[in-house]
Amino acid sequence: MDYKNISLIGFMGSGKSTVGKILAEKLGLIFIDLDKVIEMDQEKEISNIFKIHGEKYFRELETRVIKRIYKNKNCVFACGGGVVKRKENMDLIRKNSLVVYLNVLIDDIIYRLKEANGRPLVDVENKEETIERMMEERDILYRKYANIIINNDNYNPDRTVDKILSEIKR
Ligand code: S3P
Repeated sequence: MDYKNISLIGFMGSGKSTVGKILAEKLGLIFIDLDKVIEMDQEKEISNIFKIHGEKYFRELETRVIKRIYKNKNCVFACGGGVVKRKENMDLIRKNSLVVYLNVLIDDIIYRLKEANGRPLVDVENKEETIERMMEERDILYRKYANIIINNDNYNPDRTVDKILSEIKR
C-alpha cells in the first residue's frame, strides 16, 4: 500500500461506517467516524448540533475536524455524507487518503433512510423528494472526488470490503 489512509464517502445510509469498520479491521488500520469525532468534541449529537446551531455551523465544525484528524495516518475514515459540499474539505481528504465512493441505488437509500433517526437533513415531511434532490446534486460530487467507486447495494458489507480490497491491490 503506497498510501496511508482510506476515506469512505457517499450518501447517508450508504454503509460507510459498517464497511469502514470491517475494512479497517482487515487492513489493520484504525477506524474513525468523522461524525462521531464531532459529537465527542461538542458533547452533543449531530441532530442537536443542527437543531441548536444550524447546518452552516455544523459544516464549520466538520471542516475543523477534517483539518485536525487528517494529520493521522493508517486510518479508515467514514466521512459525513455532506463532506463533498466544500472543496476545501475534499482537497485535504484527497491529499491525505485514497477516496472510495460507496454507491447505492436511490431506492435502496430511500428504504434504508425510512427511519432517518439522527439524520436532520432527511428528517423532513417530503423525505423521498428531498433524498432524490440531494442525491442528484451529490452523486456528481462523489464521483468527481472518488479514486475508486464501489457498489454497495448488496447488503453484504463483507463482500463490499472484498471488492474494495481487490480494487486497491490492483
Ligand atoms: C450529512 C450526513 C450525516 C451527518 C450530517 C449531514 C449530510 O452523516 O454528517 O447529518 O449532509 O449528508 P452520515 O452520512 O454518516 O449519515
